[in-house]
Order: sequence, then structure tokens, then C-alpha cells
Amino acid sequence: MAEINIGKADLKPGQKRLASANGKKLLVANVAGKYYCMDGLCTHVGGPLWDGMLDKNIITCPWHKCLRSPPKQDEKSYNVKQKGNELFIEI
Ligand code: FES
Repeated sequence: MAEINIGKADLKPGQKRLASANGKKLLVANVAGKYYCMDGLCTHVGGPLWDGMLDKNIITCPWHKCLRSPPKQDEKSYNVKQKGNELFIEI
């Protein structure tokens, strides 16, 4: 596994953005002061989750406004490490 920089730790709690690593589009979010990262394209038909609505720790896909189905599989998530002002995931 490689540790990859996914950008600055500059999000305020409740904010999210697109990040990328190894050609993958990712969603990175600050939830109550802790950073989280997951695949950014919805497993249904690829909706951009970084454009979805973040409500506490729940992201809603912007294309079909779904929390559960129709997507058939969960998004892959990644542990986020903060080093200084930079964020890293293992991928
Ligand atoms: S693309 Fe996300 S629910 Fe359809």
C-alpha cells in the first residue's frame, strides 16, 4: 500500500470536496473535526458524491437523492491521516 497525499487539511467541520489519488475521484469531508475519505463516484451510476448534500455524517447522492438503494454496494472508504496541514490515505 502506498500513502498518498489528498490535499490540505483546510476544510471546516461540515465541509467536503473532491480529491484524487491514483486516478480515482474521492470525496473528502470534515465531520465534526475529523477527516473522512471515500470513493467519490456513486456505485449506482457514478453520481459525483462530492456534490451531494452532507448532513452530519451522511452524504446524499446528488443524482437520485438516495441514501441506500438503488446503489447495490457500499462505497469504499479509506483511513485518513493528518500530518501537519496535509491529508494522506493508504490506497
Ligand atoms: S447515481 Fe447515485 S443514487 Fe443514482
